[in-house]
Amino acid sequence: MTENLRAELTDGAVTLFRPNAAAWRLSNDWLRDNCRCAACRHPGNGQKLYAIVDLPDQLQALQAELMADASLQVRWSDGHLSSYRSAWLQTHDLAASARAQRHVVPQFWDAQISRQLPLADWPALLVDPALELAWLDRFCALGFGVLRQVPVESGMVAQVGDRLGFVRVTNYGRLFDVISVPNPTNLAYTAVGLGVHSDNPYRDPSPGVQLLHCLVGEAPGGDTILVDGFHAASLLRAEDPAAFELLCRVPMGFRYADDHTDLVARQNLISVDSDGVVCSVHFNNRSADWLDAPADLVAPWYAAYRAFAKILKRPALEAVFRLEPGDCVVMRNDRTLHGRTAFDPSRGRRHLQGCYIDLDAIRSRVLVLQRSLAA
Ligand code: OGA
Ligand code: ZN
Ligand code: ZN
Repeated sequence: MTENLRAELTDGAVTLFRPNAAAWRLSNDWLRDNCRCAACRHPGNGQKLYAIVDLPDQLQALQAELMADASLQVRWSDGHLSSYRSAWLQTHDLAASARAQRHVVPQFWDAQISRQLPLADWPALLVDPALELAWLDRFCALGFGVLRQVPVESGMVAQVGDRLGFVRVTNYGRLFDVISVPNPTNLAYTAVGLGVHSDNPYRDPSPGVQLLHCLVGEAPGGDTILVDGFHAASLLRAEDPAAFELLCRVPMGFRYADDHTDLVARQNLISVDSDGVVCSVHFNNRSADWLDAPADLVAPWYAAYRAFAKILKRPALEAVFRLEPGDCVVMRNDRTLHGRTAFDPSRGRRHLQGCYIDLDAIRSRVLVLQRSLAA
């Protein structure tokens, strides 16, 4: 990228002129704040050694030069000298097209994905970093993945959680059992069907990733239903932009209460990031509490809520498949909504175990595996 480049000092910036590409203006404060020299960043751990206010006001680049090794060298008005490697400049390009490429582009899916599930065998994944990375890459693109051959033993789900990240302990403990019981505290612990939902929207923060491991699946019914919440949100955005905007802006209340617990949180049903890209979806009928919003927004909000709920029920979006003993589905809880069909507990047992981990640990694992496989 730095071949045939020309660096010039322009007002408040170093500007790189590149053939066949727009000029790139590297703003003085931004450029200096990215200096990686040993005075600016600890050489061992890479952490920053100065505070932003330690840099002089009106810092100016006095000289900018492209060196023989294609690095950019800048001399600053406070006497500091910075050097930026060509590879670093490439990976930090702020052009809209370059920024868009750095997004993990979500791959939307629908009912068809049940015929080509993102599968991996757990014992193989444990010993093969390339396979683990390939499965995690699909998880990041799709928002879920399925592991097979997870030993059919109580507690395994938390071991898988601790291998992929760190199990988040909640009032339910390290893991929870999904089994039909008398006097259930939660509809999940009955045999009724569950509409697609994200778990625990009444927590702040809501869990990032959910695991569900099948130990027993004898009862007829109880099939797993998954819906891509990002896909559904994109359909709402296209079909009813005003409804989409309202669900991004006005949060819904959620609550879970039992004898020892009273968890209350408000969540936007849809969130977009600073680039306007959908980045999280929360939906849960069972634990919906009430809408505490300006009175004039209530009617349009409910219309939007109903429109979104109808999209989430479209059969064309529902991936339906059966978890067999040893299968563990791992879902991004703020994207992939899950539910189940009803089952008949009088004709067989059904037992799943679940736990939660955070999404950051998965992303960290991806970067670490990329690093170690590249080395
Ligand atoms: C739950 C749940 C799914 C199932 O417990 O929240 O979604 O298949 N269970 O029982
Ligand atoms: Zn420096
Ligand atoms: Zn659930």
